[in-house]
Amino acid sequence: MRNIFLIISTMLLVNSLQANESKVCQKCHPIIYSEYYESSHRKASVYNNPIHKAMWDKHPKDEKGYTCAKCHSPSDLESLQTGKLTENDIQTQEPISCTYCHTIKDVEEGDSSNTNISNGKKREYYTAEKGIKGKAEYKTETSWFGLVKESKSSPFHKIDYDNENYYSGNVCMGCHSHTNNEHSFDITMLDAAISDKDENTCVTCHMPQVLGTKVTIHETKTHAYHGIAGIYHKQKKMGEHIDFKISKTNNNFNVEVINKSNHALFGQAFRQGILKAEIKRNGKTIELEPFIFERILAKDGKEVMPWDANEAIKDTLIYAKRNVVFEQAIKAGDVVTLTLGVQRISDNGAKKLGIEDNKELTKFRVMKTEKYSF
Ligand code: HEC
Ligand code: HEC
Ligand code: HEC
Ligand code: HEC
Ligand code: HEC
Repeated sequence: MRNIFLIISTMLLVNSLQANESKVCQKCHPIIYSEYYESSHRKASVYNNPIHKAMWDKHPKDEKGYTCAKCHSPSDLESLQTGKLTENDIQTQEPISCTYCHTIKDVEEGDSSNTNISNGKKREYYTAEKGIKGKAEYKTETSWFGLVKESKSSPFHKIDYDNENYYSGNVCMGCHSHTNNEHSFDITMLDAAISDKDENTCVTCHMPQVLGTKVTIHETKTHAYHGIAGIYHKQKKMGEHIDFKISKTNNNFNVEVINKSNHALFGQAFRQGILKAEIKRNGKTIELEPFIFERILAKDGKEVMPWDANEAIKDTLIYAKRNVVFEQAIKAGDVVTLTLGVQRISDNGAKKLGIEDNKELTKFRVMKTEKYSF
């Protein structure tokens, strides 16, 4: 009976709140919704992300208008189609909505960026669930009577478990593959390659199963984390996808940083990875000069804003792996601590965009830390 009330109240909500569809999902998927609400995807718009706002404010404007909408707020159809930007509910509450992701049917490859192809259907969503794929095209029942008999199914929507893009992670590649500027230069450099030999996918690493039910109508133990494990929301487990190998010579030591993901790390313009090393020796701590992983975008050999760039004058990103040499000899009895972390935006980038006062944005976020005794 409780379910019927829930459904009736949800139906009413659906009719009264067309503008914010994700809010409707919240009724039955409250945990997923609250994670999503704190995610980079909900915050991808000009109104929710100060870095994005600062960059768009400085970006040259032409008749095409706000072209960032394609990936940063595709749910705002008006903005997507006209290039005009207005502070509305979609921009602030669901610039990349639940429905948007769950209706991506396919990803079309393109030179300057890829494009998501939607199934164009209302209340028919894709997802992935191992064990179900291929067995049933639509698992859920829409009939009210069906619902009472089988409370497991959703009365609100149909689910299609058969879209391969949700299993391979290709569903993420419409926005994440590459973003070229007008000089055909990629300013995000994720350099991702999906292979069916990979142990993990975009989804298993960034949306791991975490405790809590995925839906209220029937309890499940876990659900896919919609806050997105990564730069905004650090998860200890993410550090396991990176290995350090340390070796010493007579006058220095070498750290090999091995990246087990299927993409480059820290490629986004103005992003910065940092490897810190310190040595504890005879009760004293020696802090070494940190190593910076970054790409400096340039034109004619001089650093410029991302939209003007046509080359990188420095590229120390971690692709498959990178060797870092610290010019300090290690002695017997030393304890070396390595800490790998990331800044959403480098100090230099924050200064260029005029947002250096917002310390939250330049905060050092730890990905992994490891101690070695010699
Ligand atoms: C009236 C309740 C209700 C509402 C509202 C609702 N859902 Fe669901 N949803 C369910 C139920 C129940 C299931 C579980 C279906 C099953 O396991 O067979 C489910 C399952 C799903 C699944 C697949 C989960 C899986 O692994 O089986 C997705 C994806 C999903 N919903 C997305 C959405 C989105 C997006 C919205 C908002 C536009 C939404 N839902 C709104 C009840 C609801
Ligand atoms: C083809 C899709 C696409 C387009 C178009 C696009 N972006 Fe992005 N943008 C992304 C993706 C994906 C990320 C996340 C990349 C990462 O974290 O490595 C991102 C990240 C960013 C970030 C970093 C945000 C943060 O908090 O760290 C900024 C700033 C940004 N974009 C600005 C813009 C601006 C300004 C435009 C329009 C002129 C734009 N983008 C157009 C896909 C796009
Ligand atoms: C960035 C794209 C994206 C957004 C935004 C998004 N989802 Fe998902 N969602 C996915 C993917 C991919 C999966 C498949 C996860 C898996 O394979 O475990 C998924 C899985 C789910 C599931 C099934 C969970 C499980 O553990 O199997 C539900 C339910 C769901 N989403 C609901 C929602 C709701 C509700 C929202 C908005 C509050 C939302 N999603 C927003 C991409 C997205
Ligand atoms: C509609 C376009 C779109 C889709 C689809 C999409 N993303 Fe994103 N993603 C973005 C944008 C835009 C940003 C940058 C957000 C910002 O401005 O902070 C981003 C940021 C991120 C980040 C970096 C920030 C963080 O939280 O660590 C990760 C990781 C990420 N997305 C993973 C995924 C995964 C995994 C998928 C597939 C399940 C996915 N995204 C699907 C557009 C998209
Ligand atoms: C083996 C695990 C793994 C897989 C698979 C994986 N990632 Fe990542 N990804 C990571 C780790 C670890 C980081 C660094 C996160 C952090 O800063 O905590 C990262 C970072 C990112 C970032 C932020 C990059 C930046 O600018 O610094 C984006 C965007 C992203 N991943 C998207 C994706 C997409 C899209 C896919 C699928 C093609 C994917 N990831 C597959 C582990 C993975």
